[in-house]
Amino acid sequence: MFLETVNFIKEKVNNMPKIAVILGSGLGSLADDIENKTVISYKDIPNFPISTVPGHKGELIFGNVNGVEIVAMNGRFHYYEGYDLKDVTYPIRIFKLLGIETLILTNAAGGINLNFEKGDLMIIEDQLSFFAESVLRGPNLDEFGDRFIDMSNVYDKDYIKILKPIMKKITGKCNTGVYAYMKGPTYETPAEIRALRTLGADAVGMSMVPEAVVARHCGIKCIGITCITNMAAGIKNEVLSHEDVKETAVKAESNFKQVVKELLEKINN
Ligand code: HPA
Repeated sequence: MFLETVNFIKEKVNNMPKIAVILGSGLGSLADDIENKTVISYKDIPNFPISTVPGHKGELIFGNVNGVEIVAMNGRFHYYEGYDLKDVTYPIRIFKLLGIETLILTNAAGGINLNFEKGDLMIIEDQLSFFAESVLRGPNLDEFGDRFIDMSNVYDKDYIKILKPIMKKITGKCNTGVYAYMKGPTYETPAEIRALRTLGADAVGMSMVPEAVVARHCGIKCIGITCITNMAAGIKNEVLSHEDVKETAVKAESNFKQVVKELLEKINN
């Protein structure tokens, strides 16, 4: 199954990149800045799942950004859509087989840390995933990695060091923190947010963690950046809506894009 997908992609792409970027909310327009593109629609790729969220695209884009070869996932899969976690993370294993060494994960999240503001970016230093089943549950895929894997360095510390000054320069702030993964699709209750804060979370969202776990399982280095599109439930006296989340993500887009572009240049050297 994996090989059929990989062979299909290899036939279409000339320059295989070493870096993959998952374009989450707030970073979708990076797709427009990719040059010499080869665009492959998910629906044409054998064994690939298809995105169901309105406004989320479904294509792999191979090409370069400021001379750096990348593959971008424009549209990702979420557990709340009804996919099995194996499908959510299928592209990550395909990336591994294509030779990807570094994965930049981006998404939107609610801010739990009271020092954050709507529209901020946060570098993910670590994650909490107590409330979801592990994507690695079931027979281990030995060809990708070991049964029991160390999780003390999910988000690569060397890359975080490179990212911090870039973030500070472009956004004027350098927020870092712990990302808590919730299954969704409901936003959290205020009680859940208070509980997550007590557990050490700085931001909360509905993606990223399954992909990061599978990437670590197969030895791909991860970088995580999240856009704080809203303060999490109960912090501000406001009702959370997907429309507001999308609006804030669009406002943060130009900074987000710039941060990722500079990061790409740095890690390519
Ligand atoms: N909670 C969970 N996921 C999110 C949020 C939130 O507040 N904002 C954007 N994605």
